[in-house]
Amino acid sequence: MAIFENKQDKTFTLFTESTMYQMRVDSIGVLQHVYYGKRMEYTNMSYSVYEGSTSFSPNPLATGWTYSNNHVPQELSVTGIGDFRINALALRNSDGSLAADPRFYSAEILKGKYSIPGLPAFYGEDGETLVITLKDEAYEIYYHLYYGVFEKYDLITRSLRIENKTDKEIKLERALSATLDFPNGKYDMISFYGRHARERMFERTHIKHSKVTVSSVRGASGHMENPFVIISDKNANEEYGNAWGMALVYSGNFEICAETDLMEKTRAVIGINPENFNYGVGAGEVFCTPEVALVYSSEGFGKLSNCLHKAIRNNLVRGEYKYAQRPVLINNWEATYFDFNADKLVSMARDAAEIGVELFVMDDGWFGHRDDDRTSLGDWFPNESKLQGTLKSLAERINNEGLKFGIWFEPECISEDSELYKAHPDYAFKIPNREAQVSRNQYILDFSRKEVCDNIYEQLTKVLKSANISYVKWDFNRHISDLYSVTLPAERQGEVYHRYMLGLYDLLERITSEFPHILFESCSGGGGRFDCGMLYYMPQVWTSDNSDAIDRLKIQYGTSFAYPVRTMGAHVSVCPNHQTARVTPLKTRGNVAYFGTYGLELDITKMTDEEKEEIKRQIKEFKKYYDLIQYGDYYRLISPFTVDESLYCAWETVKEDGSEALVCAVRYESDANTAPETVKVRGLCPDKLYRINGSKETYLGAALMSVGFLLKYDFISYPSNLYHITLA
Ligand code: GLA
Repeated sequence: MAIFENKQDKTFTLFTESTMYQMRVDSIGVLQHVYYGKRMEYTNMSYSVYEGSTSFSPNPLATGWTYSNNHVPQELSVTGIGDFRINALALRNSDGSLAADPRFYSAEILKGKYSIPGLPAFYGEDGETLVITLKDEAYEIYYHLYYGVFEKYDLITRSLRIENKTDKEIKLERALSATLDFPNGKYDMISFYGRHARERMFERTHIKHSKVTVSSVRGASGHMENPFVIISDKNANEEYGNAWGMALVYSGNFEICAETDLMEKTRAVIGINPENFNYGVGAGEVFCTPEVALVYSSEGFGKLSNCLHKAIRNNLVRGEYKYAQRPVLINNWEATYFDFNADKLVSMARDAAEIGVELFVMDDGWFGHRDDDRTSLGDWFPNESKLQGTLKSLAERINNEGLKFGIWFEPECISEDSELYKAHPDYAFKIPNREAQVSRNQYILDFSRKEVCDNIYEQLTKVLKSANISYVKWDFNRHISDLYSVTLPAERQGEVYHRYMLGLYDLLERITSEFPHILFESCSGGGGRFDCGMLYYMPQVWTSDNSDAIDRLKIQYGTSFAYPVRTMGAHVSVCPNHQTARVTPLKTRGNVAYFGTYGLELDITKMTDEEKEEIKRQIKEFKKYYDLIQYGDYYRLISPFTVDESLYCAWETVKEDGSEALVCAVRYESDANTAPETVKVRGLCPDKLYRINGSKETYLGAALMSVGFLLKYDFISYPSNLYHITLA
């Protein structure tokens, strides 16, 4: 049993394989957060809680000086009753007061893992659920705190439901999903910033007394910050130290904020960004916050990432491609951009089939009259003159070459030059009496409206039914401005961002369940919406529009802190690279793309025979290592963010039992008279002997892990090598 209630101690304890999370109901009924860390035998940890008061921090009458809401670590932190730290909830009651006072009401343990109506969430019969209900002291407002526990992956999920049983509407001005109070200590926040073509750069910030925040107000999680952070001991690293990972299962505006308070206690909150959020909950209604996934590791970031990877692979990603081998694809975007016709695509497919490619993806430009990015979004019907026939006939031509056929959509956007816009200009977000901003010449459809989602649903399903389509790339190429929904009254405009997400998720649910055989890949100008929310609907995400193998080292390395290799779209493209003009060896481009989904994004008809042979070899090699790469434990060995320490980036995937590993090392900087470099492997069996790439010599696992092995030196720019480590 992963959930344990001790009635005498008034504690609730969640156990996973290596972690323990404890709460208790205190003397006045507040649900305190008592402990989240290494697993131990059940013991009441509440002795460690500091409740005391300092002047200017108010006290409940019942407790006097010994207790203040401003110091008690709490599961549900609220505005209005003397907790002046960052908090999760600001609730405007119908009388206009901005306060809540939730106290313990009831608790229930449920079999299986809860789901959240209309929102993505981790799922699975291997999970268990604890629901703790708190009730406001003064009003019939109930707070249902949901906890999901997945023992095997050290995963604890949380979500809050606010139920209004009063007879009047209440307003949520902040409704974040979770608060996490940390034990005494000095902490860092590790977050992943970026921009288009430079997503998820590693950044480490010390949490001091001012707030440290990562967030998005763009209507999407965005390239600029990611809804995932690690809070860790100041000295934690890949292998050592306490680290808490927090991932929001949501793809819209978010906020993750941490601060150290006046008593040197650190608190973090995570959830929907309160900016431009103001949600009415009518009498009898319930508001559900998105889910937060929490993972704790006492052994640094490596273990934390591995737990989250496994949980995402097994308990978040769904559908036929959850475990199935995904086809090696070729995408025509960087090969042709908008300039193609069916003959061109078929010739690419023919050459691709010869070297082992399995799926052809027709990217942007096949619909309406779109030959550049100025038109036709919203008109999801094929341009039959460009396709030299129907979509069905093109799919057949591709299928006849032996490849599956895939297609690109950008369902959430609309061009002014489109039939949809002519018929329904009000479908686009636009503030009355203002000119709306364009971005890449397009507007955003108001997905908070059911009829707008239905229109797109009808169009998309018609296309998907019209031809033999095996893959869909779902893109989103701008962020939301000019937010205003014409169907909502003035006082409800603060609901639009979240209602947009609910509309999008509903559409995704309908389409992905109606077409279970289609492999869906999420995209947003590359990796602008790489989050656990989208992964619930689509098992892979185009990691970045930057396909340069050397830039990809940082991008994929940063992405790997939360997201498994299996979810990262990664393609081999041509050189000079279209985003950076850099020239890298084809082998290196392949080696980097192996640690992702591996595909091609180039004009195969223009490759030399030698290059085609190399790609053919890569496809075979990728397939040989497929299971090891996709399901192995992943370790970051040498960071590409520390060029002063090493000229290499190295990562590894290793079978869970330690019997086989694959290390990839790429030199991303050149230097004269280079010093020899070694790499230390992880996850092997210390007392077993191994060979590297079939070497005669054998090496003790413990030695490979403590001293490592020498990296091969190649006198070329950007060399890379794979090291296959097997039992002797
Ligand atoms: C985005 C995607 C690209 C490509 C283009 C098409 O930028 O990230 O891969 O699909 O749109 O317009």
